[in-house]
Amino acid sequence: MNVYNFIVDIQRFVEEKHNLGLKVGFVPTMGALHEGHISLINRAKKENDIVVCSVFVNPIQFNNPADLEKYPRTPEKDITKLEQAGCDAVFMPTADEMYPNKVEDHYDFGEIEHVMEGACRPGHFNGVAIVVRKLFEIVNPNKAYFGEKDFQQLAIIKKMVRDLNMNLEIVPCPIVRENDGLAMSSRNVRLNEAERAIAPKIFATLNDAISKKDALSPSEMKKYTLDKYAEIKEFDVEYVEITDEINLKSLENWNECDHARIFVALQLGPVRLIDNVRIF
Ligand code: PAF
Repeated sequence: MNVYNFIVDIQRFVEEKHNLGLKVGFVPTMGALHEGHISLINRAKKENDIVVCSVFVNPIQFNNPADLEKYPRTPEKDITKLEQAGCDAVFMPTADEMYPNKVEDHYDFGEIEHVMEGACRPGHFNGVAIVVRKLFEIVNPNKAYFGEKDFQQLAIIKKMVRDLNMNLEIVPCPIVRENDGLAMSSRNVRLNEAERAIAPKIFATLNDAISKKDALSPSEMKKYTLDKYAEIKEFDVEYVEITDEINLKSLENWNECDHARIFVALQLGPVRLIDNVRIF
């Protein structure tokens, strides 16, 4: 596997592959790779001739400096995992390489950026959009792969690609979970033993609420979920939302959409965790 730190080098690598008529799949990450990321690499390998991954902890998408500082960084282990997964090239730039000048771009994604993560983490999606656009322009992939754990991020990236007529396909991939149901996340390594033991209740509670769907309206299901989380003293819930999957608008009635999803963000010890599950 080739490891590139500079934009010109990864660009040259991909250009050579395109000139040979090969399809390039791309998996952008912030590193501290786990099985969830590897599932994206595997999917990209099946659907393309060449797979490129990026590992870059993007400073401008963190609205909390402590979160940026504590974000796990394991570059050597990441390289080993990517090599074992059969990835062809990894792009690992420095922040100076990605942002030699201050970035002033401002994106407007409308309603979908102002709810949930957008409401709790001001500027987050603007930072994501800036880096993902830059990475797409650098890597120039045919397809790019994103996990549904960051479902709102996926909606925003899909919208950016549509709005800017970018010539690539965004491929959403299912959430990968630990055996006990906890959604895999690079942040999970920061949970202590007691917190890790409680963490599966995030997913279990969402499923419990969904199982009551026939008896509850969306707002009743939201209240039920909040009440259940409130019983677990270690959880400090930021939001629970039940929305249309397409426009991320809160639902009043189940018949307002074809597919509904329940979302949660909460603080557990030092770690902010998110999860979501399709209701129907
Ligand atoms: O989901 C992530 O890991 C990041 O938000 C992404 C898409 C790599 C952009 O930094």
